Amino acid sequence: MWEQDLQKWVLSVGDFVSTHFDIYRSEFLEVPTALLDSVLYSLNTGGKRFRPLLSMIVAEHYEADPMRVLPWAAAVEMIHTYSLIHDDLPCMDNDDLRRGKPTNHKVYGEPLALLAGDALLTEAFSMLFKFYQTEPGLGMQLVEKLSTASGLQGMIAGQVLDMQADHTPVDEQALMKIHKLKTGQLIRVALEGAAIACGAVQNDVLSLKFYGESLGLAFQIRDDLLDSAEGDEDSKNFVSLIGKKETVALLDEVSRKAKTYLNKLQNPSVKLLQMVDYNLNRTK
Ligand code: IPE
Ligand code: IPE
Ligand code: MG
Repeated sequence: MWEQDLQKWVLSVGDFVSTHFDIYRSEFLEVPTALLDSVLYSLNTGGKRFRPLLSMIVAEHYEADPMRVLPWAAAVEMIHTYSLIHDDLPCMDNDDLRRGKPTNHKVYGEPLALLAGDALLTEAFSMLFKFYQTEPGLGMQLVEKLSTASGLQGMIAGQVLDMQADHTPVDEQALMKIHKLKTGQLIRVALEGAAIACGAVQNDVLSLKFYGESLGLAFQIRDDLLDSAEGDEDSKNFVSLIGKKETVALLDEVSRKAKTYLNKLQNPSVKLLQMVDYNLNRTK
C-alpha cells in the first residue's frame, strides 16, 4: 500500500525535528526546558506531515540523497506548526483542541505558546542555514522561497484576509484568494523548494510549483468539506458560500488541474498523482 510506503518519511521527519531540538536540550542548557517541551508537543502530536511528505516524494522522484531535502522538509513543517499554534490562540481562532488534543496554549499557557511559535518560525531559518550553508546559493534561494511563501505575501497575508473576512463578507473569488494564500503557498513551496534542492530542470520546477498551487487550494477545499461535515462551518467556508455539491465539483476541478501539471514533468510521478487522490479522500 502506497501510504505505508510513505510512512517512513513521516517517521523520518518526526525523528529529524525531534533530534534537532533534543540537541538544544542536551548541549545548550540556556534554552528553557519548558520552551522545548512546548515546541515538541506541537511538532509531534499527530500531524499528517502532508507538506514534508510532498517534499520527500520529490526527493525520491529525483533519486536524491534524502538528507538533501529532509532539512527543507523539516523547516516547512516547523513553519506550519508555528502557524497552527498561533492560529489556535485566544486572539485568533481561540481553539481548545487541535488534532483531538488540547491546543498548545491550553497545555503550556498563552505566553509560552506564543513564544514557542516564535521560536519555531525563527528556528526554521536556522535549520536552512545549518544544513545548506555549504551551498550558499541554494541556501539563499530556499530562504527566499520559504520567507516569501510564509510571510507578508503568503501565508500571513492569507491569515489577515481570513481575519478581515470575519467582518466583511467575501465572495467566491475572495475566498479562493484566502485559501490560496493561507494554505496554498506553503504546500506549493514544499514542492518547489524540494525540486530546487534536487537540482530539477527549470521546467520541472515550474510544473511542480503549479501542481503545488492547485493541490494547496484543493487541500483547503477538502478541509472546508470536512469542517462542514463536522458542523464546524463558518461564513468563510466554501460550503456555506456556494453549497456542498458545488464545493465537491470545485474540488474535483482543482484536483484534475493539479494532475495536468504532473503530465508536464520529464518523468511521471505516480506518488504525486496519488497525493491528489489522498487529499480527495482524506477524512482528517
Ligand atoms: C491544517 O493543516 C490547517 C490548514 C492549513 C488547513 P493540516 O491538515 O496539514 O494539519 P496537520 O498538521 O495534519 O494537523
Ligand atoms: C489554519 O487555518 C492556519 C493556517 C492555515 C495558517 P484554519 O483556521 O482555517 O484551519 P484550522 O481549522 O484551524 O485547522
Ligand atoms: Mg483555525
